[in-house]
Amino acid sequence: MVTSTTLFTFLILILTTIVFVNADTSEADVTAILISNTQFCIFLPPAPGEYISDSEKTALAFCTPGTPTSVRDLPDGFIISANFGGDSSTYVQITGKMNPDAYQLHHDDDGGQYDSAGSPPNASCAGYEHFVNLVEPNNGNYCIRCCHYKSDCPTNKSTEGCEKVIPGPPY
Ligand SMILES: *[C@@H]1O[C@H](CO)[C@@H](O)[C@H](O)[C@H]1NC(C)=O
Ligand SMILES: *[C@@H]1O[C@H](CO)[C@@H](O)[C@H](O)[C@H]1NC(C)=O
Repeated sequence: MVTSTTLFTFLILILTTIVFVNADTSEADVTAILISNTQFCIFLPPAPGEYISDSEKTALAFCTPGTPTSVRDLPDGFIISANFGGDSSTYVQITGKMNPDAYQLHHDDDGGQYDSAGSPPNASCAGYEHFVNLVEPNNGNYCIRCCHYKSDCPTNKSTEGCEKVIPGPPY
């Protein structure tokens, strides 16, 4: 016989599942981690095929498989090259090339910027106070830098692109 307690428990379970699935993005969804050239995250639109600048408020962190505490893997084949630079006393960065087709990004998309100034809201880089991250599908460049000092992570010149905002090898 099914007791009312059992039914009640079942109902709570279903409701919890619905709430969980519809929950707002969690802190882990918008936290990047930069450890090495094989363990790092960048921000990308939540769904393939979106323009980067359209996702500056909705982007999520995507990480190389196996990055500690990561909740979402980068698309297969997206990262072509990744160069780690800097050191943890000031800033760390990854600069490199990506394949826009691996996430159906548009070849006419001149890109956009994610940063710790609210793009997306509450975005951060673990262990650092600031970050800046550009993704440029039209030339295949991407870059991310996580900084202790705001001056190392300028967020006011995104239109100048990765090569100016985050100099590094090779684009
Ligand atoms: C950002 O974090 C604050 C406090 O941690 C929270 O109240 C707010 O809802 C968050 N905003 C978003 C858009 O997640
Ligand atoms: C960005 O801000 C820095 C520091 O405030 C300033 O020196 C620089 O001229 C600004 N650059 C642009 C392109 O606005």
